[in-house]
Amino acid sequence: MTPMDMLLTRASTDHLAEPAPSDAQLSEILAAAMRAPDHGKLRPWRYVVIRDEARPVLAERIVASMKRMDAEAPEFKIEKRRKRFSTMPLILALGMHLRPDHKIPLWEQEMAVAAAAMNVLNALHATGFGGVWVSGDVVDDPVLAAELGLPAPHRLAGFLFIGTPEGEQHAPKRPDPAEFTASWTGKPVQFAADRT
Ligand SMILES: Cc1cc2nc3c(=O)[nH]c(=O)nc-3n(C[C@H](O)[C@H](O)[C@H](O)COP(=O)(O)O)c2cc1C
Repeated sequence: MTPMDMLLTRASTDHLAEPAPSDAQLSEILAAAMRAPDHGKLRPWRYVVIRDEARPVLAERIVASMKRMDAEAPEFKIEKRRKRFSTMPLILALGMHLRPDHKIPLWEQEMAVAAAAMNVLNALHATGFGGVWVSGDVVDDPVLAAELGLPAPHRLAGFLFIGTPEGEQHAPKRPDPAEFTASWTGKPVQFAADRT
């Protein structure tokens, strides 16, 4: 697979089986995250690795968080999350160490975290693994964040479910990049994607 093939074939999946990346493999994958663009070299990304028996423990914390965030969270949703967080081969909590008073604006700090997460997803794919980035209300719960070791000024940016893709992986149709691209020659551009 050429590097371009690799980029053009990545797709998120939650159809994930064992094995998950070993510690050594994960370390290499996270080295790719350290290549993300990062204004001011703030290194705002944080990764909490959840494996093995820690998964059901996290699942219960997620359930408690869901109930904190929405006292009427439906039971089927709670059970689905409990199962996913208990059984995904590896979970990486994506943390952000944010500096609201820094001259680098918060949105740039958050983008650096997202760029690093994208590198993680690509590195997973490049090494034969797969994953998906998930969020939900719980990422806004400071109690859950603190339980993970991400108290303010940290916050949660979501979770990566990680493992080996299993079963037939569908290749989602991707949009034509031309719809999102326009050449500027002095007048404001218009994008095909914005036409109604
Ligand atoms: C910040 C962030 C949070 C996301 N949260 C969820 C989520 O909670 N549930 C979900 O199904 N997809 C979520 N997604 C989308 C998936 O990660 C994924 O991008 C989507 O399934 C499309 O797959 P693709 O990456 O192959 O295009 C999230 C994406 C981002 C960037």
